[in-house]
Amino acid sequence: MRGLSIPLLVSAAVTRASALPSDQPSRRATISWDDAYAKATTALAKLSLSDKVGIVTGTGWQAGNCVGNTKAASSIGYPSLCLQDGPLGVRYINGATSFAAGIHAASTWDIDLIRERGTFLGQEAKQLGIHVQLGPVAGPMGKIPTGGRNWEGFGADPYLVGIAMRETIQGMQEAGVQACAKHYIGNEQEKNRESMSSAIPDRIMHELYLWPFADSVQAGVASVMCSYNKINGTYACENGGIINKLLKDELGFKGYVMSDWNAQHTTTGSANGGLDMTMPGSDFNNPKGNILWGAALQSAVSSGQVQQSRVDDMVKRTLAAWYLVGQDKGYPTATFNSWKIGNYNVGGNHKDNVRKMARDGIVLLKNIGNVLPLKKPKSIAVIGSDSIVAPKGANACVDRGCNDGTLAVGWGSGAIEFPYLIAPLDAIKTQAQKDGTTITTSTNDNAQQGASAAQNAEVAIVHINSDSGEGYITVEGNAGDRKDLNPWHNGNDLVKAVAAVNKKTIVVIHSVGPLILEPYIDNPNVVAVVWAGLPGQESGNGLVDILYGAASPSGKLPYTIAKQPSDYGTAVTSGDDASWDLFIDYRRFDKNNITPRFEFGFGLSYTSFTYDALTVTGAPTAGPAVGAKAPGGPADLFETVATVTAKITNSGGVAGAEVPQLYIGYPASANAPPKQLRGFNKLNLAVGASGTATFKLRRRDLSVWEGGRWVVPSGEFGVFVGASSRDVRLTGKITV
Ligand SMILES: *[C@@H]1O[C@H](CO)[C@@H](O)[C@H](O)[C@H]1NC(C)=O
Repeated sequence: MRGLSIPLLVSAAVTRASALPSDQPSRRATISWDDAYAKATTALAKLSLSDKVGIVTGTGWQAGNCVGNTKAASSIGYPSLCLQDGPLGVRYINGATSFAAGIHAASTWDIDLIRERGTFLGQEAKQLGIHVQLGPVAGPMGKIPTGGRNWEGFGADPYLVGIAMRETIQGMQEAGVQACAKHYIGNEQEKNRESMSSAIPDRIMHELYLWPFADSVQAGVASVMCSYNKINGTYACENGGIINKLLKDELGFKGYVMSDWNAQHTTTGSANGGLDMTMPGSDFNNPKGNILWGAALQSAVSSGQVQQSRVDDMVKRTLAAWYLVGQDKGYPTATFNSWKIGNYNVGGNHKDNVRKMARDGIVLLKNIGNVLPLKKPKSIAVIGSDSIVAPKGANACVDRGCNDGTLAVGWGSGAIEFPYLIAPLDAIKTQAQKDGTTITTSTNDNAQQGASAAQNAEVAIVHINSDSGEGYITVEGNAGDRKDLNPWHNGNDLVKAVAAVNKKTIVVIHSVGPLILEPYIDNPNVVAVVWAGLPGQESGNGLVDILYGAASPSGKLPYTIAKQPSDYGTAVTSGDDASWDLFIDYRRFDKNNITPRFEFGFGLSYTSFTYDALTVTGAPTAGPAVGAKAPGGPADLFETVATVTAKITNSGGVAGAEVPQLYIGYPASANAPPKQLRGFNKLNLAVGASGTATFKLRRRDLSVWEGGRWVVPSGEFGVFVGASSRDVRLTGKITV
């Protein structure tokens, strides 16, 4: 306990069980799929073949207000559908909220904040007349730590990603917009994404990569976007194995599958493989030519290569999704133009969610001698280009495709225009004024200049970062995927130079994913390391909340930080990718006894928590799930079969939130990873207060994919409750 009196967010002891669909009233969108299908079937009868083709064929690249548009069908009051990026806000608008990136949302481990983020995303989209917002992202999942788009998703664990998908989708769709779960599937890197093939064995597909898409289907997601890559040699958007068999048949997906932009390659192959909508409906480069559906689909029906019933099915799925979320009733019409960015103030108070996420997604990695939180230091040196907004402005580079100034989002179609961006130095200056703290700065990445600014300061805060994005833009030699796991702009040298002259050096890192911290992590002058992630427009404010103790840090890593890149065992590949196993991220470190620098689920606090009173109840039965087919899989797969509880007490000196995590070890016969995340809570606890962590295990959470079905193996399951994947505080077992 620290003998300090500092202002902290004090909240009463609150317990929150991890929300599970099985024991909650349906929070699905406005009406049921059955009712939506009934309406769609009635509407379908009024449509001509050309109407139908217009509903499933994009109007062409940049032919319409939105990034994707389809033709209206006036006989049924169906509008030109507006499809717009992206997963963290509305692209091509000035005035939309730039929310925390998916990876940062995940590092809060806060279901309520993730849900609220989804709701706010949906509200902004609806106000703008967007029917389909192109997110959230469940693939890539972070198999490859340098993968360029990992930051758009929710981390390197299917359970965590699945919960975040569910909450985001339900939040968005309840607000009235159709969500789009993407990118389906096996697209884990940017390099060669449009030609490479991913050969994912069936079990690995189910237990890792398909898992969060099953959660998405269970949550009622309206649409799914197929990815650019091939699976087993067949393009995802014409792959009957993944679309017809896995998604529509096995998972019972009732909505429609749209192509990623230009990811369609054939007319009949894609139609018969299960694609339901082509986007943008033309080549990027040849908007008038090479239209694979439209008239070509009509001819394919006439010649019998595609059945009329298949086209009807495409249309029914698309219309049903529109009815599902209530867009047939007075939905706004899009007036913005993506190709001429205008001002639309739709943010409201949503910045509060961004600030809370910026704050609560921060992971405190090191804090020697309680240097943090800061206590009115006499002087602070603020160092690094990452501490300021880029001199040319936060939106100077198209699609955020440069790494100048502070990093708050990656680049590509998943980034949006910042309405504003609060950099660390902006917020530190405001606080310093209140405290009478003198600030010296060196706002470039020059090591010598940084050291001279730091020399006489009581505390030096060094800001470094690492960026990545979508492969159509190369930034400083990084073609989407990162070149390596080092900070950009010689960040390690900057940290070392400052630490050489200042005994209280604090490192703040904004990053799209893991970095190697070895060059300075054990340096005694580096007294604190603050993993500030990818926080969105409120970056600096959230950071200052943590640096000064307005809140205790409560974020936990959604991936492993290794000691060396080779420890991950995965890397961007040049040809096809045949290297798939069950052991990504912490699953591999655990299996191979590799000690990480900071494990999955790790994060320090300004207070401390004790764990006790583990209970395990329930009597799961061995064998396969045999329930009726339901969205996401057999209905019994989602039933609670065991419940684990633990008492968590704030035993330290300040209020704070803890994320107790449940990991399950399967019987040896399952040949499963040693531990797998199967539950988490986030508990806000006042000093001395206790709360109950409740983890409901669904049949699914104890099952392995075996012989084409989900099976609970018999034997002994290990129950591990702790503060990270390696900081296990309580152990128990479930015998099946
Ligand atoms: C791809 O091939 C692997 C290995 O043969 C197989 O296990 C998997 O089921 C195939 N995937 C699809 C979607 O057919």
